[in-house]
Amino acid sequence: MKHIINIEDLTVEEINQIYNRASEFEKGIRKANHLKGHVVNMFFENSTRTKMSFEMAENKISANKYDFFADTSSIQKGEDLFDTINNLSAIGMNVVVMRHQDNNLIENLSKKSYFQEISFINAGSGTKSHPTQALLDFYTMKKHFMDLSNRTVVIVGDIAHSRVAKSNISLLKKFGTKIRCLAPENLTGEKIEGVEYYTSLKEAFEEADIIMALRIQKERIQEKIDFDEYIKNYQITKENLPYAAFLMHPGPVNRDIEISSEVLEMQNARTILNQAKNGVYVRMAVLDTILNLQGL
Ligand code: CP
Repeated sequence: MKHIINIEDLTVEEINQIYNRASEFEKGIRKANHLKGHVVNMFFENSTRTKMSFEMAENKISANKYDFFADTSSIQKGEDLFDTINNLSAIGMNVVVMRHQDNNLIENLSKKSYFQEISFINAGSGTKSHPTQALLDFYTMKKHFMDLSNRTVVIVGDIAHSRVAKSNISLLKKFGTKIRCLAPENLTGEKIEGVEYYTSLKEAFEEADIIMALRIQKERIQEKIDFDEYIKNYQITKENLPYAAFLMHPGPVNRDIEISSEVLEMQNARTILNQAKNGVYVRMAVLDTILNLQGL
């Protein structure tokens, strides 16, 4: 586990190990002191939760953290990102936490050899992968249900453009969870083996344990979106939300589009803030594991 790039690269044992370590951090029975570790956060796409949660995790494990701002960096003078990373490594950075709009750039960077050893953590790459989000979603679900193998998860919304959906599907398949995707045809994307696809909310929500809503990613969609039609057929409301459903959303939420404001004020929606809270423990566990492997 030198890098965390895609969920596909992690074994069930490694995912459970991150879960257990995150749980120890949450309970306060694990402490970490990584004053020798240097972590640089490089966000080329906007973020609130992931960026703040990594920063909080870095502070809590006493690592040294650095913010890289692309707009004021020498990338603006034309420096290639490969050379930037080489230099950050030479300066002494041990871990790069990166979010980028390109699906494969972080993975490609992680495969290059550098002046010193450096680890990459993918904080969201294009529409392909968001491994730490899937790990924190897993933590949130497992903490509540313990065993996910006999549960049904419905992922609803803009699946086509969602790295969160892809990473969650990849993770949940490893644990034998029944996965349903619910979306209008134009937001379904390429179908994934082992997933059941629905266009009817009523059918998809039948006997569902977990409902994971996704944001409509306006910035990645070229064609005009018919929001009225989406709201009519797919918005999660007090009327269609199953009574005992475990409601999740990775955030940011488009209020009154994916989920009605009324539902967001309900007790069910507390889970969404718990996802954000749990993200800190999971990212502490990921950073702790990687820095330990580097002997720091
Ligand atoms: N869930 C998530 O990745 O949120 P941010 O884009 O705010 O980091």
